[in-house]
Amino acid sequence: MRTLHLPLPTARLRLRDFTGEDFAAVQAYSADPRVTRYLFFGPRDAEATADYLEGLLASQRETPRTRFELAIEEPGSGRVIGACDLSMIEHGVFDLGYMLGSGDWGRGYATEVALALLEAGFQQLNAARIISTVDVNNRASIRVLEKIGMRWEAIFRKHRRAKNRWWDCHLYVLPREVWLAQAAPGGQRD
Ligand SMILES: CC(C)(COP(=O)(O)OP(=O)(O)OC[C@H]1O[C@@H](n2cnc3c(N)ncnc32)[C@H](O)[C@@H]1OP(=O)(O)O)[C@@H](O)C(=O)NCCC(=O)NCCS
Repeated sequence: MRTLHLPLPTARLRLRDFTGEDFAAVQAYSADPRVTRYLFFGPRDAEATADYLEGLLASQRETPRTRFELAIEEPGSGRVIGACDLSMIEHGVFDLGYMLGSGDWGRGYATEVALALLEAGFQQLNAARIISTVDVNNRASIRVLEKIGMRWEAIFRKHRRAKNRWWDCHLYVLPREVWLAQAAPGGQRD
């Protein structure tokens, strides 16, 4: 089973494993209702954040490791500005996700992070498909998925019931063969 080589650098950021010391940073963005508006969980209180972080740290020790939920860190300041993840949902199929504290929205960070995870997912984890589901009203995230070249595949009506409502979600997919074909002219990805 392949694994991700961490930390994973992007042009401006660094994706690394969380540690217990990141509690305050995680709590800050996941307690913010603007951040969790289109997420199935939250806003989280301190106890829920502690449970989440504990489960996440345990997942780092699993072998084979199938869940890569990573801290997004600004290398200069060492500030954790959000989280992203690539989790295997079935053999060869990985689910992509990301969230940032609202003070860091609108700088292209999510696009940069998601592109780095796609690249690493296909190259390092040998993914056959990377997918993402997004609430139909989450315009910023839909835009990110489109900018990184993922393709709309389906709409799931009443995909899930969470936070007292039904969620209609889009399914976006990037198959490995499409990712290979999107390589820059003259560039080779495999
Ligand atoms: C979704 C999220 C990660 C985007 O982060 P970001 O760093 O601001 O994203 P980027 O700057 O890379 O790109 C955002 C794009 O969406 C656009 N956008 C932002 N808000 C928008 C809105 N309300 N309607 C339409 N487009 C919007 C931006 O203009 C930008 O597109 P552009 O480059 O063509 O101008 C961030 O808003 C977030 O953390 N949201 C809360 C958590 C979440 O919903 N995660 C996704 C779950 S599927």
